[in-house]
Amino acid sequence: MKLEHGIISRVQQANDIVDIVSEHVNLARKGKEMVGLCPFHDDHKPSMYVNPDKQIFKCFACGAGGDVIKFVQMREGLSFMRSVERLARRAGINVNFSKQASNGPRSDVDSADIEKVNRWAMKFWQQNLQNESVGARCREYIQHRKINEKSIVEFGLGFAQDRWDDFLSAARQKQISEKLLLAAGMVVKGDGGLYDKFRNRLMFPIIDASSRVLGFGGRTLGEDPAKYMNSPTSVLFDKSNCVYGLDKARHEIVSSGRAVVVEGYTDVIMAHQNECKNVVATLGTSLTAGHGKLLRRFAKDMVLIFDSDIAGAAAAERALEICLAEMIDIRVASVPKGKDPCDFILSAGGEAFVELIGNAVDVMEYRWARLSEKFGNSDNLTDRRRAMEEFLRTVSTALKGGKVDAIMQGLIINRLARILQIQPEDIRKEIERRSRPIERAAANTIENVKISKIDTGIGFGAKAQEEIIEAVLNEPRLFESAAKRVGANDFDIPVLKESWQLLEQRLTGNNEFSLAELLGQVESQETARLIVKLSDNGQDVETLRKRLAGAVNALAEYNIKKEQTPDDLSDEELRKITSVKGKPDRRNPGLMPI
Ligand code: UTP
Ligand code: MN
Repeated sequence: MKLEHGIISRVQQANDIVDIVSEHVNLARKGKEMVGLCPFHDDHKPSMYVNPDKQIFKCFACGAGGDVIKFVQMREGLSFMRSVERLARRAGINVNFSKQASNGPRSDVDSADIEKVNRWAMKFWQQNLQNESVGARCREYIQHRKINEKSIVEFGLGFAQDRWDDFLSAARQKQISEKLLLAAGMVVKGDGGLYDKFRNRLMFPIIDASSRVLGFGGRTLGEDPAKYMNSPTSVLFDKSNCVYGLDKARHEIVSSGRAVVVEGYTDVIMAHQNECKNVVATLGTSLTAGHGKLLRRFAKDMVLIFDSDIAGAAAAERALEICLAEMIDIRVASVPKGKDPCDFILSAGGEAFVELIGNAVDVMEYRWARLSEKFGNSDNLTDRRRAMEEFLRTVSTALKGGKVDAIMQGLIINRLARILQIQPEDIRKEIERRSRPIERAAANTIENVKISKIDTGIGFGAKAQEEIIEAVLNEPRLFESAAKRVGANDFDIPVLKESWQLLEQRLTGNNEFSLAELLGQVESQETARLIVKLSDNGQDVETLRKRLAGAVNALAEYNIKKEQTPDDLSDEELRKITSVKGKPDRRNPGLMPI
């Protein structure tokens, strides 16, 4: 999708950040700014500032920050595009998202149309369920499953009758096109024409964080061998990118800082019914990177609950990869005796379930324990070696594909060393041996470099790049002189490079910009955070000018040194350009005063 020119600033201007933030946070006036409890971390005294003049928000505790679009992105878990769309709609602006040919399967049915049909279907099936005579049998089933009235309403459950055209004829009456019904997967085409896909089923609507009805799961009330059926993949619905129950669970996930992921619809409902409200489910697939990315917007801790140890052992390998590649803390647990969480809660209660969640173990340790079991837990060196090989293979693959930087990798290696009871150096060697060719490329593509890492992990090159951006953000008139000596190619930290490019776009031949406008061009939350953090440092022009000059020199020096590959430097040389503290790290030169 591409946005029409100028739409971002129109959307920003039409949506006052104070209004939007107030939809989620109670704001109080404090001087020129508004302040409230930050929704992005567990905030006890108000640390979120909203500045109406600049139209930006900033949390002094957790560092979250950005413009109005970024706030919606983060708070409502939407993509950049979706946030613009949502704010445009709110302000009554017509957006023409021109679709790019390359973007997924081409279809002339719009996701918004499918959503409308889904929403209508949800209500239709709910009416069936509420209808005294039509819904009786399904209500009986629900009761038998111990799902209460409140949950029926909360989860919007419905009933698809045991007929071939119950839904179809109602949809026809409503003049919904057959093309749309087919695209939404509500009806199927057979020899004798169209018929209802969901028959004799309890219907579970799948709703996303912004309350869109993405699709359905339907459980048979009879003996159909397909116990559950789902809506087909469409422009709107993709099982590997959504989870069940997120709309109900998101607040609790944010406030508890943890997402609990189970396997089934009924598990989610029973958990919520028993006051465990940070629980969601995958939709018949094991955890994917898409699920990881989605949930990470809300919390960085994740607990996976498997129905059984056997299912868990297989799923834990995927989970381990996702944990390493997406930098999410994942712990896992399984329900005893092959039950699922729903049965477990029914027999042992909600508190026991909370305890089970609390006792979950780190996925890395879990995976290692399962592997050692598989290889007989013996002292036999060959077996142990094979287990270790397999383990390290998973770890290296994940590290290769992910965004893990040197510091993070160091931490992971230390954990591995503890689990495997071997020296960190040996593990490092093993991992390096397996991932050498990719490593250098990865260093330049760490899209999501966390700001905190630039703060603490600092190579002086990174520090210099950061200072340049900081100086220009605070004094745009310094851009011109900076641009004479540095260009985008001098930046090798992706977020900083992006920031420089944005400044370049805005400031070439121009001496001013608004921070919100600049932020409107930024899609990544990390970059927005960085820009907000670096802007407004309160220093006077002269100080900024001096710092800029120092940083420009340092960056030039850094780039000359970089020409020599780090491997060509002796340890002595390396020590010279690296941190005063600690041992030199070849991939992660430390801070040097500029
Ligand atoms: P389960 O069989 O554990 O589902 O499968 P459940 O929700 O516990 O089912 P019952 O009603 O208590 O018997 C877990 C999940 O796997 C998917 C569904 O998402 C289900 O919730 N699944 C299962 C399917 O997609 N199709 C199937 O045929 C079975
Ligand atoms: Mn189950």
